[in-house]
Formats: sequence, C-alpha cells, structure tokens
Amino acid sequence: MTEATSSTSAFAPRVFSGIQPSGNLTLGNYLGALRRFAKVQDTGVETIYCIVDMHAITVWQDPGKLTRATRELAAAYLACGLDPARSILFNQSQVPGHAQLAWIFNCVARLGWMNRMTQFKDKAGKNSENASLGLYAYPALMAADILLYHATHVPVGEDQKQHVELTRDVAAKFNHDFGLEFFPSPEPVIEGAATRVMSLRDGTKKMSKSDPSDMSRINLTDDADAIAQKIRKARTDPEPLPSDLEGLKDRAEARNLVNIYAALADTTPEAVIAEHAGQPFSAFKPALADLAVAHLGPITARMTEYLGDPAEIDRILGAGADRAHAIAAPILDRTYDIVGMIRSR
Ligand code: TYM
Repeated sequence: MTEATSSTSAFAPRVFSGIQPSGNLTLGNYLGALRRFAKVQDTGVETIYCIVDMHAITVWQDPGKLTRATRELAAAYLACGLDPARSILFNQSQVPGHAQLAWIFNCVARLGWMNRMTQFKDKAGKNSENASLGLYAYPALMAADILLYHATHVPVGEDQKQHVELTRDVAAKFNHDFGLEFFPSPEPVIEGAATRVMSLRDGTKKMSKSDPSDMSRINLTDDADAIAQKIRKARTDPEPLPSDLEGLKDRAEARNLVNIYAALADTTPEAVIAEHAGQPFSAFKPALADLAVAHLGPITARMTEYLGDPAEIDRILGAGADRAHAIAAPILDRTYDIVGMIRSR
C-alpha cells in the first residue's frame, strides 16, 4: 500500500472496498480485487469490505437472483481468504448510513462531474434517457461508501479509478464548503499485474460479468474443463511469445494472457516472458490453464462449501453490518451536525 499523502495523514489508515453482487464473478474481479483484499487484511490495517447491493439495483435485478448473488459473493470473499474476525464483511443495504450520506453527497457533487463518468456512459449506452436516476448518481453513493468510514485507501481495479477520484472531489468540496478538514482524501490502490484483465475474445475490452459471451471471461464458478476450454479458445495472434515485454506492444490478447499468468503465479510479466520466451501459444495456453485450474479449483470448492450453509453467511453479514454501523454512526452524526441538521434524539 502506498504511503498516505498529507491530506490523509491526519486520519488513521483504513481500507474500504466493494463489489457488486450482480452474478458471474470473473477472474478480473478475483485478480483485480478479491485476492488483494485478503492480502491487505494480513498487513494489520483495519479493513472493511462491502457487498454493494444498492449499487447493483441501479440496473434491473431479479429479487431472487440478487439474494443468491449476494450470498455467492459473500462465499467468494470467504473462499478467497477473507477472515470475518479480522475484516468487516457486510452488505451495503444493512447499514442505512450509506444511503443517508449519499443524499448529502448528491447535493455536493455537480452534474458536470457526473457527466464525465465513463462507466455511466458505458452502462447507459445509447438509451441514456431510459437509465435509472440511481445509475447516474452511482458515483455519489460510492463516495458515501468510502467516506462514511473515513477510509484512506481503496484497493480497486483500474476501471474504478475515476470513481475514487470523484470521491476525492466530493471530500474536497464538502471540506471547502463547510470550512473544515472533515473527510479524508482517499487513495485508489491499483497494484499488481492484473489491474485490468481483458476479455478472452477481444483484448481491447475489459473482462466483464455483463459481456454477452461467456467465452470472454473465466467465472469463479467455472469447473476445470470450462476454464481449460476458455483458455484454449482465447483469441491470440499466430506469433510465439517474444523475448521481452517490448515485443508484446500492439499484441493486446497476448499481453493479457501474460498478465493473467503473472498475476496467478504472483510474479511479474517480465519474469513470465523470461521463462516462456519463444513458446508458441499451443504450449503457453495449457501451462496457463493448469495454473488457473490449480488456483481457482480450491476457491470454487470452498465457495460451494460456504454456500451449503446460507444461514451462516447471513449471520456473518449481519455481524459485519453491526460493526460497520458502529464506525459509521458517529461520522454520520457529525456530518449532519456540520451541515446544520438538528439531531435531538
Ligand atoms: P465491480 O463490482 O464492477 O468490480 C469489483 C472490483 O473488481 C474490479 N474489476 C476488475 N479488475 C481487473 N480487471 C477486470 N476486468 C475487472 N473487472 C472488475 C473492479 O475494479 C473492482 O475493484 N463501483 C464498484 C463497486 C463499489 C466500490 C465502492 C468499490 C461500490 N462502492 C467503494 C470501491 C469502493 C464496482 O462496480 O465494482
């Protein structure tokens, strides 16, 4: 984790991050987020991880599927090594402070800021008149998630950088408008070889749970055969692997597979190239598939085990929400106070 800058140094280090329970957790979610969350927990910093069900409903979610996806995501967090005794794990809607602070931030954030958000443009597509108001205000809710806990560091994949920067803008404007340094300026923490895992079918597109082609992604619930098949069929070019990283320039698909390999093996793309230089993809892909299966197989098995006891998952989420609420409540109270709202009970 990077050192806190002067704007955050007055605040104790605290990590917050979130993932949407919208089904189909991908290798991108795993390498860009989930796996890193468990590692941060080992550094001894306070860690708060959220299942952002309120963000998920900014686009239509079937209620039964939302419940299932929430438990599945909780199981994934746990299967990836998150320890609910050391980290706080909960679903967003159980802590009302997220919605309450988000309203205040809706009144701080500017329309012009929202209009620049690339994720809104991607998700709303051509028919933005028909997008929900929630989808538009999504980044203000995300700012509330982070700042409700005075979090200082936010581990995310590359695609969330703009939202964390907006969070910093919201904090700065609130502090400026009310003339005090109340909210920290949180740092996005974007580290490792796989901060942007790309589609297996198109190296210029992010690997995404919403891609219509299941062959474009590896899901955390895929079995060994599916993983091997998807990697075997992944789009590549006919050239063998080059002898240095420079040789991967303009070879987006090849670069993506090397990055995935490096992230799974916990090494650097340079080291992967050094080891596999000159190999054709017919040799590299099976090695990558073996690595992915060895890595993901045990996680999928543990997820299935956790999902066998949904009551226990719900208990963990409830206990996490209580702990999260205990941190959030005084910060929210103070926020209302700063804004000038009477708190008389
Ligand atoms: P979401 O649910 O889309 O993704 C969860 C996390 O996974 C990362 N990620 C990726 N990383 C690398 N390569 C990919 N292909 C890839 N796809 C997804 C994301 O960067 C993210 O870290 N808005 C957030 C959720 C959120 C949040 C927050 C995050 C809500 N409140 C507060 C941090 C702090 C989102 O939609 O992530």
